[in-house]
Amino acid sequence: KVQQLHAVADALNQTSDLDTLEGIDWDNFGFGLRPTDFMFVMKGDLEGNWQKGQLRPFGNLEVSPSAGVLNYGQGVFEGMKAYRTADDRILIFRPEENAMRMINGAERMSMPAPDVDTFVDAVKKTVLANKRWVPPTGKGSLYIRPLLIGTGPILGLAPAPEYTFLIYVSPVGTYFKGGLSPIDLKVETYFHRAAPGGTGGVKTISNYAPVLKTQLMAKGNGYSDVLYLDAIENKYVEEVSSCNIFMVKGKVISTPELAGTILPGITRKSIIQLARSRGYEVNERPVSVDELLAADEVFCTGTAVVVNPVGSITHGTNRVQYNNGAVGRVSQELYEALTTLQMGVSKDEFDWVVEL
Ligand code: COI
Repeated sequence: KVQQLHAVADALNQTSDLDTLEGIDWDNFGFGLRPTDFMFVMKGDLEGNWQKGQLRPFGNLEVSPSAGVLNYGQGVFEGMKAYRTADDRILIFRPEENAMRMINGAERMSMPAPDVDTFVDAVKKTVLANKRWVPPTGKGSLYIRPLLIGTGPILGLAPAPEYTFLIYVSPVGTYFKGGLSPIDLKVETYFHRAAPGGTGGVKTISNYAPVLKTQLMAKGNGYSDVLYLDAIENKYVEEVSSCNIFMVKGKVISTPELAGTILPGITRKSIIQLARSRGYEVNERPVSVDELLAADEVFCTGTAVVVNPVGSITHGTNRVQYNNGAVGRVSQELYEALTTLQMGVSKDEFDWVVEL
Protein backbone atom coordinates (compact mmCIF):
# COMPACT_ATOMS: atom_id res chain seq x y z
CA LYS A 1 0.00 0.00 0.00
CA VAL A 2 2.79 2.38 0.90
CA GLN A 3 4.39 1.55 -2.45
CA GLN A 4 1.20 2.61 -4.20
CA LEU A 5 1.04 5.81 -2.23
CA HIS A 6 4.65 6.52 -3.11
CA ALA A 7 3.64 6.22 -6.74
CA VAL A 8 0.89 8.82 -6.21
CA ALA A 9 3.30 11.16 -4.52
CA ASP A 10 5.84 10.54 -7.22
CA ALA A 11 3.45 11.80 -9.82
CA LEU A 12 2.46 14.76 -7.68
CA ASN A 13 5.94 15.79 -6.69
CA GLN A 14 7.48 14.89 -10.02
CA THR A 15 10.35 13.28 -8.21
CA SER A 16 12.06 10.36 -9.86
CA ASP A 17 13.49 8.55 -6.87
CA LEU A 18 11.49 8.08 -3.70
CA ASP A 19 14.08 6.15 -1.74
CA THR A 20 16.79 8.75 -1.78
CA LEU A 21 16.90 12.49 -2.17
CA GLU A 22 19.57 13.86 -4.42
CA GLY A 23 20.95 17.34 -4.10
CA ILE A 24 19.53 18.21 -0.69
CA ASP A 25 21.80 20.46 1.35
CA TRP A 26 21.27 18.70 4.69
CA ASP A 27 23.80 20.97 6.39
CA ASN A 28 21.72 24.09 6.01
CA PHE A 29 18.32 23.29 7.46
CA GLY A 30 16.99 25.62 10.10
CA PHE A 31 13.56 25.10 11.63
CA GLY A 32 11.35 25.74 8.61
CA LEU A 33 8.66 23.79 6.81
CA ARG A 34 9.86 21.64 3.96
CA PRO A 35 6.86 19.88 2.41
CA THR A 36 7.32 16.10 2.36
CA ASP A 37 5.52 13.21 0.65
CA PHE A 38 2.68 12.11 2.93
CA MET A 39 0.51 13.21 5.79
CA PHE A 40 -1.79 11.11 7.96
CA VAL A 41 -5.45 12.11 8.23
CA MET A 42 -8.15 10.64 10.45
CA LYS A 43 -11.61 12.05 11.15
CA GLY A 44 -13.91 11.47 14.08
CA ASP A 45 -16.98 12.82 15.80
CA LEU A 46 -17.43 14.55 19.14
CA GLU A 47 -18.21 11.23 20.82
CA GLY A 48 -14.76 9.93 19.82
CA ASN A 49 -15.86 7.56 17.05
CA TRP A 50 -12.89 7.67 14.70
CA GLN A 51 -12.91 6.51 11.09
CA LYS A 52 -9.93 4.60 9.76
CA GLY A 53 -7.01 6.96 9.24
CA GLN A 54 -5.12 7.14 5.96
CA LEU A 55 -1.89 8.38 4.52
CA ARG A 56 -2.45 10.98 1.83
CA PRO A 57 -0.10 13.01 -0.31
CA PHE A 58 0.93 16.10 1.69
CA GLY A 59 -1.34 18.96 0.69
CA ASN A 60 -3.94 21.50 1.70
CA LEU A 61 -7.04 20.67 3.72
CA GLU A 62 -10.53 21.76 2.87
CA VAL A 63 -12.54 22.94 5.89
CA SER A 64 -15.71 24.88 6.48
CA PRO A 65 -15.24 28.60 7.14
CA SER A 66 -17.10 27.94 10.39
CA ALA A 67 -14.79 25.12 11.52
CA GLY A 68 -14.38 25.16 15.31
CA VAL A 69 -10.61 25.50 15.03
CA LEU A 70 -10.80 28.54 12.72
CA ASN A 71 -13.37 30.41 14.77
CA TYR A 72 -12.74 29.41 18.36
CA GLY A 73 -9.24 27.95 18.35
CA GLN A 74 -10.28 24.42 19.26
CA GLY A 75 -7.01 22.57 18.65
CA VAL A 76 -4.03 20.90 20.29
CA PHE A 77 -0.73 19.82 18.79
CA GLU A 78 2.39 17.83 19.56
CA GLY A 79 6.04 18.02 18.54
CA MET A 80 8.23 14.93 18.10
CA LYS A 81 11.38 14.01 16.19
CA ALA A 82 12.67 11.00 14.24
CA TYR A 83 16.42 10.44 13.92
CA ARG A 84 18.38 8.26 11.51
CA THR A 85 21.13 6.18 13.11
CA ALA A 86 24.57 5.64 11.60
CA ASP A 87 23.43 2.12 10.54
CA ASP A 88 20.30 3.52 8.89
CA ARG A 89 17.65 2.68 11.47
CA ILE A 90 14.92 5.24 12.24
CA LEU A 91 14.22 6.06 15.90
CA ILE A 92 11.50 8.05 17.63
CA PHE A 93 11.46 9.10 21.28
CA ARG A 94 8.84 8.36 23.97
CA PRO A 95 5.86 8.57 21.58
CA GLU A 96 3.38 7.37 24.23
CA GLU A 97 4.17 10.50 26.24
CA ASN A 98 3.04 12.69 23.35
CA ALA A 99 -0.07 10.59 22.88
CA MET A 100 -0.99 10.98 26.56
CA ARG A 101 -0.30 14.70 26.54
CA MET A 102 -2.58 15.09 23.52
CA ILE A 103 -5.31 13.14 25.35
CA ASN A 104 -4.99 15.45 28.40
CA GLY A 105 -4.98 18.59 26.28
CA ALA A 106 -7.96 17.41 24.25
CA GLU A 107 -9.91 16.84 27.46
CA ARG A 108 -9.19 20.45 28.56
CA MET A 109 -10.31 21.72 25.13
CA SER A 110 -13.49 19.54 25.08
CA MET A 111 -12.28 17.42 22.18
CA PRO A 112 -12.07 13.66 21.60
CA ALA A 113 -8.54 12.33 21.04
CA PRO A 114 -7.10 9.18 19.45
CA ASP A 115 -6.03 6.55 21.98
CA VAL A 116 -2.34 5.94 22.64
CA ASP A 117 -1.98 2.97 20.27
CA THR A 118 -3.75 4.74 17.40
CA PHE A 119 -1.61 7.83 17.91
CA VAL A 120 1.69 5.93 18.04
CA ASP A 121 0.79 3.71 15.11
CA ALA A 122 -0.13 6.77 13.01
CA VAL A 123 3.16 8.48 13.89
CA LYS A 124 5.12 5.38 12.87
CA LYS A 125 3.23 5.07 9.56
CA THR A 126 3.74 8.73 8.72
CA VAL A 127 7.47 8.65 9.45
CA LEU A 128 7.97 5.44 7.47
CA ALA A 129 6.05 6.81 4.48
CA ASN A 130 8.36 9.86 4.55
CA LYS A 131 11.49 7.91 5.43
CA ARG A 132 13.62 9.44 2.73
CA TRP A 133 13.15 12.82 4.44
CA VAL A 134 14.77 11.71 7.71
CA PRO A 135 18.14 13.49 7.45
CA PRO A 136 21.39 11.48 7.43
CA THR A 137 22.67 10.79 10.94
CA GLY A 138 24.13 13.88 12.58
CA LYS A 139 22.48 16.27 10.11
CA GLY A 140 19.27 17.01 11.97
CA SER A 141 15.99 15.20 12.35
CA LEU A 142 12.54 14.75 10.91
CA TYR A 143 10.20 16.94 12.95
CA ILE A 144 6.79 15.33 13.45
CA ARG A 145 3.75 17.51 14.02
CA PRO A 146 0.59 15.68 15.20
CA LEU A 147 -2.38 18.03 15.18
CA LEU A 148 -5.90 17.56 16.52
CA ILE A 149 -8.41 20.17 15.40
CA GLY A 150 -12.14 20.80 15.46
CA THR A 151 -12.97 20.82 11.76
CA GLY A 152 -16.76 20.51 12.00
CA PRO A 153 -18.84 23.67 11.42
CA ILE A 154 -20.14 25.52 14.46
CA LEU A 155 -21.50 29.03 14.95
CA GLY A 156 -22.60 29.36 18.55
CA LEU A 157 -19.81 28.76 21.05
CA ALA A 158 -19.73 24.97 21.54
CA PRO A 159 -17.46 22.04 20.70
CA ALA A 160 -17.23 21.33 16.96
CA PRO A 161 -19.24 18.31 15.73
CA GLU A 162 -16.27 16.81 13.79
CA TYR A 163 -12.54 16.46 14.48
CA THR A 164 -9.47 15.82 12.35
CA PHE A 165 -6.32 14.19 13.66
CA LEU A 166 -3.47 14.73 11.27
CA ILE A 167 0.27 14.30 11.21
CA TYR A 168 2.73 15.99 8.92
CA VAL A 169 6.52 15.95 9.00
CA SER A 170 9.40 18.17 7.92
CA PRO A 171 13.18 17.74 8.07
CA VAL A 172 14.72 20.30 10.44
CA GLY A 173 18.03 21.47 11.78
CA THR A 174 18.51 23.67 14.86
CA TYR A 175 15.64 25.81 16.17
CA PHE A 176 17.36 29.07 17.00
CA LYS A 177 19.35 31.01 14.44
CA GLY A 178 23.07 30.44 14.85
CA GLY A 179 22.78 26.73 15.61
CA LEU A 180 23.39 25.33 19.04
CA SER A 181 24.94 28.49 20.43
CA PRO A 182 23.83 30.21 23.64
CA ILE A 183 20.71 32.35 23.24
CA ASP A 184 19.89 35.78 24.67
CA LEU A 185 16.58 35.98 26.52
CA LYS A 186 14.51 38.99 27.54
CA VAL A 187 12.33 38.71 30.65
CA GLU A 188 8.80 39.93 29.88
CA THR A 189 7.33 41.88 32.78
CA TYR A 190 4.07 43.19 31.30
CA PHE A 191 2.52 40.43 29.20
CA HIS A 192 1.90 36.95 30.57
CA ARG A 193 1.74 33.64 28.76
CA ALA A 194 -0.73 31.92 31.11
CA ALA A 195 -2.64 32.37 34.35
CA PRO A 196 -3.70 29.87 37.03
CA GLY A 197 -6.79 28.01 35.86
CA GLY A 198 -6.07 28.82 32.21
CA THR A 199 -4.62 26.56 29.54
CA GLY A 200 -0.87 27.14 30.02
CA GLY A 201 -0.37 23.51 31.04
CA VAL A 202 -1.73 22.01 27.81
CA LYS A 203 -0.38 22.19 24.30
CA THR A 204 -3.27 24.04 22.74
CA ILE A 205 -2.70 26.03 19.56
CA SER A 206 -4.27 29.02 21.33
CA ASN A 207 -1.28 29.40 23.68
CA TYR A 208 1.06 30.23 20.84
CA ALA A 209 -0.30 33.20 18.81
CA PRO A 210 -0.46 35.47 21.90
CA VAL A 211 3.30 35.17 22.49
CA LEU A 212 4.17 36.37 18.99
CA LYS A 213 3.82 40.06 19.82
CA THR A 214 6.36 39.98 22.64
CA GLN A 215 8.59 37.59 20.75
CA LEU A 216 8.69 39.89 17.71
CA MET A 217 9.45 42.91 19.91
CA ALA A 218 12.26 41.02 21.64
CA LYS A 219 13.67 39.76 18.34
CA GLY A 220 13.55 43.31 16.98
CA ASN A 221 15.78 44.30 19.88
CA GLY A 222 18.31 41.55 19.20
CA TYR A 223 17.08 38.87 21.65
CA SER A 224 16.43 35.27 20.65
CA ASP A 225 13.21 34.86 22.65
CA VAL A 226 11.15 35.91 25.67
CA LEU A 227 11.08 34.48 29.19
CA TYR A 228 7.70 34.71 30.93
CA LEU A 229 6.99 35.30 34.61
CA ASP A 230 4.03 34.15 36.70
CA ALA A 231 0.86 36.21 36.29
CA ILE A 232 0.23 36.80 40.01
CA GLU A 233 3.49 38.04 41.49
CA ASN A 234 5.42 38.76 38.30
CA LYS A 235 8.36 37.22 40.11
CA TYR A 236 8.64 33.51 39.36
CA VAL A 237 9.99 32.17 36.10
CA GLU A 238 7.57 30.16 33.93
CA GLU A 239 8.85 29.29 30.47
CA VAL A 240 10.19 30.65 27.19
CA SER A 241 7.68 30.99 24.28
CA SER A 242 8.69 27.65 22.82
CA CYS A 243 10.53 25.76 25.59
CA ASN A 244 11.01 25.06 29.31
CA ILE A 245 13.82 26.55 31.40
CA PHE A 246 16.38 25.11 33.86
CA MET A 247 19.05 26.68 36.07
CA VAL A 248 22.20 25.21 37.60
CA LYS A 249 23.67 26.51 40.86
CA GLY A 250 26.59 24.60 42.30
CA LYS A 251 25.65 20.93 41.96
CA VAL A 252 21.89 21.49 42.03
CA ILE A 253 19.61 21.82 39.01
CA SER A 254 16.24 23.58 39.41
CA THR A 255 13.31 24.07 37.09
CA PRO A 256 9.84 25.60 37.59
CA GLU A 257 7.38 23.04 38.93
CA LEU A 258 4.34 21.96 36.90
CA ALA A 259 1.54 23.91 38.52
CA GLY A 260 -0.80 24.18 35.53
CA THR A 261 0.65 27.28 33.89
CA ILE A 262 3.68 25.81 32.14
CA LEU A 263 3.94 23.14 29.50
CA PRO A 264 4.76 19.65 30.81
CA GLY A 265 7.62 19.19 28.34
CA ILE A 266 8.65 15.65 27.46
CA THR A 267 12.22 16.85 26.98
CA ARG A 268 11.88 18.62 30.37
CA LYS A 269 10.79 15.37 32.01
CA SER A 270 13.53 13.38 30.26
CA ILE A 271 16.26 15.84 31.26
CA ILE A 272 15.11 15.67 34.90
CA GLN A 273 15.28 11.86 34.79
CA LEU A 274 18.62 11.82 32.94
CA ALA A 275 20.22 14.38 35.28
CA ARG A 276 19.07 12.45 38.37
CA SER A 277 20.43 9.22 36.92
CA ARG A 278 23.79 10.98 36.56
CA GLY A 279 23.82 11.97 40.22
CA TYR A 280 22.51 15.53 40.04
CA GLU A 281 19.98 16.76 42.53
CA VAL A 282 17.06 18.19 40.52
CA ASN A 283 14.36 20.30 42.16
CA GLU A 284 11.02 21.16 40.62
CA ARG A 285 9.92 24.23 42.55
CA PRO A 286 9.11 27.93 42.14
CA VAL A 287 12.24 29.62 40.75
CA SER A 288 12.40 33.41 41.13
CA VAL A 289 13.85 35.56 38.41
CA ASP A 290 16.45 36.86 40.90
CA GLU A 291 17.67 33.32 41.55
CA LEU A 292 17.84 32.65 37.83
CA LEU A 293 19.95 35.76 37.32
CA ALA A 294 22.33 34.51 40.04
CA ALA A 295 22.65 31.00 38.54
CA ASP A 296 25.89 29.50 37.22
CA GLU A 297 24.22 28.14 34.10
CA VAL A 298 20.82 28.34 32.44
CA PHE A 299 19.46 26.20 29.62
CA CYS A 300 16.18 25.60 27.80
CA THR A 301 14.61 22.30 26.81
CA GLY A 302 12.01 21.31 24.24
CA THR A 303 11.50 18.97 21.32
CA ALA A 304 12.28 21.67 18.80
CA VAL A 305 15.11 23.34 20.77
CA VAL A 306 16.46 20.06 22.31
CA VAL A 307 18.77 21.42 25.08
CA ASN A 308 19.84 24.95 24.29
CA PRO A 309 22.18 26.92 26.54
CA VAL A 310 21.24 30.46 27.55
CA GLY A 311 24.05 33.00 27.10
CA SER A 312 22.38 35.98 28.73
CA ILE A 313 19.17 37.11 30.39
CA THR A 314 18.01 40.72 30.49
CA HIS A 315 15.51 41.79 33.17
CA GLY A 316 14.72 45.50 32.93
CA THR A 317 18.09 47.22 32.81
CA ASN A 318 19.88 44.28 34.40
CA ARG A 319 21.73 41.99 31.94
CA VAL A 320 23.46 38.89 33.20
CA GLN A 321 25.80 36.82 31.06
CA TYR A 322 26.48 33.16 31.86
CA ASN A 323 29.82 31.38 31.25
CA ASN A 324 31.08 34.43 29.33
CA GLY A 325 28.60 33.51 26.61
CA ALA A 326 30.06 30.00 26.16
CA VAL A 327 28.15 26.70 26.53
CA GLY A 328 28.02 25.62 30.21
CA ARG A 329 29.40 22.26 31.32
CA VAL A 330 26.09 20.85 32.61
CA SER A 331 24.14 22.03 29.55
CA GLN A 332 26.71 20.35 27.30
CA GLU A 333 26.66 17.13 29.34
CA LEU A 334 22.87 16.86 29.33
CA TYR A 335 22.60 17.81 25.65
CA GLU A 336 24.98 15.00 24.80
CA ALA A 337 23.32 12.51 27.15
CA LEU A 338 19.93 13.16 25.54
CA THR A 339 20.90 13.36 21.90
CA THR A 340 23.20 10.31 21.91
CA LEU A 341 20.25 8.38 23.29
CA GLN A 342 17.82 9.77 20.72
CA MET A 343 20.23 9.03 17.88
CA GLY A 344 20.88 5.48 19.05
CA VAL A 345 24.54 6.10 19.92
CA SER A 346 24.30 5.43 23.65
CA LYS A 347 22.59 2.55 25.43
CA ASP A 348 18.89 3.19 26.10
CA GLU A 349 18.65 2.18 29.74
CA PHE A 350 15.30 3.93 30.11
CA ASP A 351 13.56 2.17 27.24
CA TRP A 352 12.59 5.51 25.73
CA VAL A 353 13.64 4.93 22.15
CA VAL A 354 11.33 3.22 19.66
CA GLU A 355 12.75 1.78 16.47
CA LEU A 356 10.53 1.88 13.37
C1 COI B 1 8.22 21.72 20.08
O1 COI B 1 9.24 21.94 20.74
O2 COI B 1 8.09 20.67 19.46
C2 COI B 1 7.13 22.68 20.04
O3 COI B 1 6.03 22.26 19.81
C3 COI B 1 7.37 24.12 20.22
C4 COI B 1 7.01 24.88 18.98
C5 COI B 1 6.80 26.32 19.31
C6 COI B 1 8.03 24.72 17.90
